Amino acid sequence: MKRFDHAIAVVTGAGSGIGEQTAKKLAGEGAKVVLVGRTESKLKKVADQINEGLSEPAAVVFQADVTQEDQVDKLARYLSEEYGGLHVLINNAGTSGKSSVLDMEASEWDRIQDTNLKSVFLVSKSLSRLMMDEGREENRAIVNVASLSGHKAGAQIPHYSSSKAAVINFTKALALEFSKSGIRVNSVSPGFAETPLTAEGLQNKRFEQAIQEHTALGRVGKPEEVANVICFAASKEASYMTGSDLLVDGGWMIK
Ligand code: NAI
Repeated sequence: MKRFDHAIAVVTGAGSGIGEQTAKKLAGEGAKVVLVGRTESKLKKVADQINEGLSEPAAVVFQADVTQEDQVDKLARYLSEEYGGLHVLINNAGTSGKSSVLDMEASEWDRIQDTNLKSVFLVSKSLSRLMMDEGREENRAIVNVASLSGHKAGAQIPHYSSSKAAVINFTKALALEFSKSGIRVNSVSPGFAETPLTAEGLQNKRFEQAIQEHTALGRVGKPEEVANVICFAASKEASYMTGSDLLVDGGWMIK
């Protein structure tokens, strides 16, 4: 028996990085995974890798921009018609940018808040109804991907760090609201992981070295290492954990 046998799971931003690795791990452990994102070709590539050699596909693709309420509601209708319910939701889609407060356009502030925070609200609101239809004894969990930056301000990312701090607190509010329905809600806060989001910065060797020096474990993380913790929080092994934030930062915060 695998950890996610019979589970229906949704991963947003599943076309690359942490979302891709999380989707692969969930599928590898028995889940049927719906890969959600804006770029169909990226999602399809991940789905093909997951489904290769399987008699029945474990991954399907659903194209949606998670900042758009109508597209999120369309996803909920699709899930209801195809599967009739949902067990695991990973709110992973996110983006970043660089600016001081004084130089930032309001539209840039909105772009980051919409992608990182509003999307978590929209997707959780729309899809959680499907999770409530499942039996109380079934494992049902939401995991929101926050950030180390939600705990600690970073230079030139005031919009990013405030959006992620809000995700951590929204997670706690949602955990409280959903506790009566038996849906657990937790967040995972990665430190620096090697993904398309950080690729440009990490090309700068001095920046990479500074991160390595500041990280207790002395290296940048791998997206798989974050995915492992996301899957733990989503699994019934974490059955007594809700409203928590799990730091996966290689010891950045202790140094
Ligand atoms: P990534 O850029 O590879 O993944 C983000 C995914 O979200 C992309 O596939 C992107 O297309 C998708 N996405 C963005 N906006 C979307 C929208 N409106 N609708 C649907 N999909 C959308 O980067 P990574 O690193 O895998 O990021 C995943 C999460 O981890 C993000 O929430 C990020 O903020 C968080 N994180 C990443 C860290 C890192 O060092 N890589 C550190 C801390 C947090």
